[in-house]
Amino acid sequence: MKGSLEAPGATIGVIERYREHLPVTEATPVFTLSEGSTPLVHSPRLSAIVGRGCRVYLKYEGLNPTGSFKDRGMTVAVSKAAESGAHLVICASTGNTSAAAAAYAARAGIKCAVFLPCGKIAMGKLAQAFVHGAVVIAIEGNFDQCLKLVREMATEPGISIVNSVNPYRLEGQKTAAFEVIDALGDAPHLHVLPVGNAGNTTAYWRGYLEYHRLNRATRLPRMLGFEAAGAAPIYYDRVVEYPETAASAIRIGNPASWKMATAAFRESGGAIEIITDEEIFAAQSWLASKEGLFVEPASAAPIAGLFKCRSQTPCAGCPIQKIPDDAVIVCTLTGHGLKDTAAVLNERVKPLAALPEKAAILSILDKAK
Ligand code: F0G
Repeated sequence: MKGSLEAPGATIGVIERYREHLPVTEATPVFTLSEGSTPLVHSPRLSAIVGRGCRVYLKYEGLNPTGSFKDRGMTVAVSKAAESGAHLVICASTGNTSAAAAAYAARAGIKCAVFLPCGKIAMGKLAQAFVHGAVVIAIEGNFDQCLKLVREMATEPGISIVNSVNPYRLEGQKTAAFEVIDALGDAPHLHVLPVGNAGNTTAYWRGYLEYHRLNRATRLPRMLGFEAAGAAPIYYDRVVEYPETAASAIRIGNPASWKMATAAFRESGGAIEIITDEEIFAAQSWLASKEGLFVEPASAAPIAGLFKCRSQTPCAGCPIQKIPDDAVIVCTLTGHGLKDTAAVLNERVKPLAALPEKAAILSILDKAK
């Protein structure tokens, strides 16, 4: 069974949109949920905060079918797994990869098993894995241990690993860089994104390089990544055995694409920096309340990063200092806030109780800030 290829009027997904740049052939069955083509939202307030005439755009990847950027890579990985005759796709995940794997495997009619660090997954993401029918396995260990296990499992015949160690994942994910260039008419001067397993950084850089080589862009962006301070192996240049951050999506101590992402930061004249959980939550709240965009905590890291780089004395080599006036900056908002409502619903956030009377409501509204 094929995807929505033969359905006129269906929104095309990334494989059809960028087929000539992807490792698919006529023999590849395309399983798509019409992922990609996400909005590039202009942020007037962030632009004003960065200043110097810069324009900041937000690539809102939370609007993909399963609510994160993972869908771009998963359509390719699962389609290729189906092409190879795999009977089981597996992945380790901090939540979003497993949600995407489960959804695309369901679409393709392939069994899916996901390996998750026990008790460390946002509820929305866990619900997605279950509802799409995956076998959900909670491992007593962190993401890095889950990934090690999955790599061992993938040596069995008929099993396809759909983590970003699968090259098809990064191939699909690079389409986000194509979309940015297609929308702006050129590459941005700076691209800012959160870093966990470091696959997305690697994929964007690959996409920018490929389009640049094809003369679709006149320049390459500096890549600026942010790790959570308690889970920052690339920044500190050493494996973090017990990574800790409330931004559960990026709680990773030994990223699979470490070397390739480091090369991307270096070659692009960019940098890898860290951001505290406090700064991440402040940025998440700011983005939701000032710009109307609700993202999960990890996705607020680049916004927190922009704030930090503007507020502190710039560190040596800060890419933001190196971009020209009137520069174009793109931040990737990797996942939707609805995946992790527990991150924002704490004891301080509760509705104001009221009787169903107009006078009572008016008085409450009067007092509310
Ligand atoms: N943002 C979100 C929302 C994520 O889910 C992830 C990674 C990242 C950022 C970091 O991207 O790993 O390419 O550097 N999530 C993976 C997962 C690890 O299992 O869902 P990266």
